[in-house]
Amino acid sequence: MALLDVNNLSVRFTTNSGPVYAVRGVNMQLDRGETLAIVGESGSGKSQTVFAMMGLLAANGEASGSVTFDGTEILNAPPKVINPIRANRMAIIFQDPMTSLNPYMRVSEQMAEVLQLHKGMSRRSAVAEAARMLDAVRIPDAKSRVNLYPHEFSGGMRQRVMIAMALLCRPDVLIADEPTTALDVTVQAQIMKLLADLQREFGMALILITHDLGVVAGSSERVIVMYGGQIMEKGPVNPIFKDPTHPYTRGLLNSIPRVDRQDEALLSIPGNPPNMAKLQQGCPFAPRCEFAGEDCVEHLDPLTEFAPGRLRACNRPVSVVTGENA
Ligand SMILES: Nc1ncnc2c1ncn2[C@@H]1O[C@H](COP(=O)(O)OP(=O)(O)OP(=O)(O)O)[C@@H](O)[C@H]1O
Ligand SMILES: [Mg+2]
Repeated sequence: MALLDVNNLSVRFTTNSGPVYAVRGVNMQLDRGETLAIVGESGSGKSQTVFAMMGLLAANGEASGSVTFDGTEILNAPPKVINPIRANRMAIIFQDPMTSLNPYMRVSEQMAEVLQLHKGMSRRSAVAEAARMLDAVRIPDAKSRVNLYPHEFSGGMRQRVMIAMALLCRPDVLIADEPTTALDVTVQAQIMKLLADLQREFGMALILITHDLGVVAGSSERVIVMYGGQIMEKGPVNPIFKDPTHPYTRGLLNSIPRVDRQDEALLSIPGNPPNMAKLQQGCPFAPRCEFAGEDCVEHLDPLTEFAPGRLRACNRPVSVVTGENA
């Protein structure tokens, strides 16, 4: 049984200008200890997918479908079911560290509070454990720096504090929602390496959300590609990189800078992301897809396995999309 099993998950927001269909019919499974990446352009529904799973949707959002964690249904579950899981077994780190750190409290106090509340630790051992966790995320001189306020850390170090905070209760699943977007490239690479190391050390599963396919290679085993709130392609990372067959995934890959192709211009995908206020029947990518036919505008092909473990929501023959001879 998968640790996390998501079935037909949809998220709808009610707004003054009508409904917004942010996520539609998402299915995914996560095994213990595995790394799964969710990629897609801004607005494709990555964050709302995981927010819904954790019961963190904004008040105007409504989720439907099913999410089980270790066999327990957690979607729209009452606080007595979701709270213990959210506190101890699933943790999330957000893009902006200041959304989960209190600027007016020393890091030691914030971290100790979590352990006192959820693990029943004494104040003293909680502070000691907090310092150990800062050390685990490679913050130098952790014992004294645990007493600083969040703003006294640099951006990269603050992101490490947030990771330490998420790991305090030793979760089975860590969700990292674009954990490095606010950081410069060198620090980004260090944080990605740290997450990979911690995942091994703590033996936890990791869901890595990013709009940058570049960070997925080498860090994840499987990837889910989202567009317009729906899954376009999913499967093992390496074959998708080597041989992308979904037109959208190909577009995303063409827009990553590559060291071996410096002379070529980066291709961004022409056109704009879809309007999520419309409940489209067709493929959301069709208006921007150079391979789309009339049928694509009318209906979205179901996610279908076209090679072992590889699924895509596009019936165009692979040879047409990749330009190979059939
Ligand atoms: N509270 C809300 N009310 C209405 N619409 C919302 C609300 N929150 C999110 N949305 C919409 O849901 C859609 C999906 O948003 P989501 O945050 O999941 O995107 P994302 O893939 O995480 O993008 P990014 O890479 O920019 O973080 C977007 O169209 C967004 O505008
Ligand atoms: Mg997001």
